Amino acid sequence: MDTWKPVALVADISPDTGTLRVVHEGEAVCLYKLPDDICATQDRCPHGNASLADGYLEDGTIECPLHQGVFDIRTGKPQCPPVTTDLRRYEVRVEADTIYLKAE
Ligand code: FES
Repeated sequence: MDTWKPVALVADISPDTGTLRVVHEGEAVCLYKLPDDICATQDRCPHGNASLADGYLEDGTIECPLHQGVFDIRTGKPQCPPVTTDLRRYEVRVEADTIYLKAE
């Protein structure tokens, strides 16, 4: 049976940045509020030591604050140099305004 863990409320996601860093099973995870969806990926940029929650969210992509690498949030795929590695993605469920991530 799938196990889901509550990590935040939808209202906890900053309306200014559209992102929120949470810890899920010991890993830093970034939540993203898209117009029609909530997504989650690893928070740490695979290129360096940057938190994607501090990045710039636009049109379903996140731009890393350190060297401006861009990822597609829904697929985790890198979109431009210098990033070349996919982001780990997490399954998200929202119930009664609570955001759950699937547990391993
Ligand atoms: Fe993210 Fe370099 S640390 S692009």
